[in-house]
Amino acid sequence: MIRPAELIERKRDGGELAPEEIAELVLGYARDEVPDYQLAAFLMAVYFRGLTSAETFALTGAMIRSGDTIDLGAELGRKVVDKHSTGGVGDKTSLAVGPVVAACGVPFGKMSGRGLGHTGGTLDKLESIPGFQVELPHERFVAQVRELGLAIIGQTADLVPADKRLYALRDVTATVENVSLIAASIMSKKLAAGADAIVLDVKVGDGAFMKTLGEARRLAETMGELGRHAGREVVCLLSDMDQPLGRAVGNALEVREAVATLRGEGPADFEQLVVTASAHLLALSDLGLDLDEGTRRVRAAIGDGSALALYERWIAAQGGDPSEDALPRAPVVREVVAEQEGYVSRLGAIAVGGSALRLGAGRRTKDDSIDHSVGVVCRLKRGDAVGRGAVLAEIHARDDASAQDAARGVLAAYEIGDEPPRARPLILDTIV
Ligand code: URA
Repeated sequence: MIRPAELIERKRDGGELAPEEIAELVLGYARDEVPDYQLAAFLMAVYFRGLTSAETFALTGAMIRSGDTIDLGAELGRKVVDKHSTGGVGDKTSLAVGPVVAACGVPFGKMSGRGLGHTGGTLDKLESIPGFQVELPHERFVAQVRELGLAIIGQTADLVPADKRLYALRDVTATVENVSLIAASIMSKKLAAGADAIVLDVKVGDGAFMKTLGEARRLAETMGELGRHAGREVVCLLSDMDQPLGRAVGNALEVREAVATLRGEGPADFEQLVVTASAHLLALSDLGLDLDEGTRRVRAAIGDGSALALYERWIAAQGGDPSEDALPRAPVVREVVAEQEGYVSRLGAIAVGGSALRLGAGRRTKDDSIDHSVGVVCRLKRGDAVGRGAVLAEIHARDDASAQDAARGVLAAYEIGDEPPRARPLILDTIV
């Protein structure tokens, strides 16, 4: 039997743990045999000392073994692809990528999570659609992916239960932001859910876990290694999260923007990410095509209405009302007006996400309830010209007081300069 204190001490002093030691510690914690305070001390040692590749593989493997695994590919008799984002502000990509990819003939069965803090979660966005069911029995999930090509549901309690406990502990012990811990957390869930090929969208910047391109590259490389070690193909996109993605931040507002994008009327940056991620998924799929052909088919599915039609069938299949009129609307809409002319030189993602959170669009603790109707629409983004009295953003709020508070926060998120800022591409790098 391991002695947790010895392992903590060794990691604290910069030593390396054997794979069996890591597995015993993590599985012991998942079984309630190792107390929170010892795991918390271990996590802090890892935060400062890091994990080697071998230790990260061992941690990921142990987390997967803590619960059930799914082999969706075997159940469907097809190669299965999946996508995951490390989380950002206004990131509604899966809502559009799922229908696009399925409309192109590639099955997309995804398990998603909820948001915490200033980053939103796909499940919360989907739950703004009246009637939409995020919990489906396994057989129905598989049948829907087989028949329709698309289902997005919540992670079941027995998929990587060790990560649920560890993540909750990391969240309250300031140990989330470590590359190995993030990589093991994300990849254990992707690998346990059975995807053969995975497109990872690693967000970089102010509103992301990874603030610099260097850190994001390290995370992408670590996740790629974990995937390949498990025999899966991985493509990592590093994408900008210095400003919100698209214009809408807030659940129902983001669903509207995803639907507009499926109609070919989305904001340029969001559309670019949807097209790029979808094209990579097609290129990784069993359709046997390259990225250029994938891009052509993705654009065709948006252009001919098949992606939008698939969205509507998908939402209805999970009990939701796909019409845009059914989405909740906030009673108060207030404009944020520019106080000076020039160009938007910066639009802080975290400040906009924080304002949306205070409006009620997100949760500070996992038990908070959220208001699906509220949020922020950034009408102007980095590089846009700002005329006298221009409307920078709209606040969608439940009352005047919260609208006023958010308007102050959003105004402060905008920096206006005399010159247009240097262009920063949305997709900063692609790591294959
Ligand atoms: N998302 C996860 O699932 N886990 C992390 O550790 C960070 C982001």
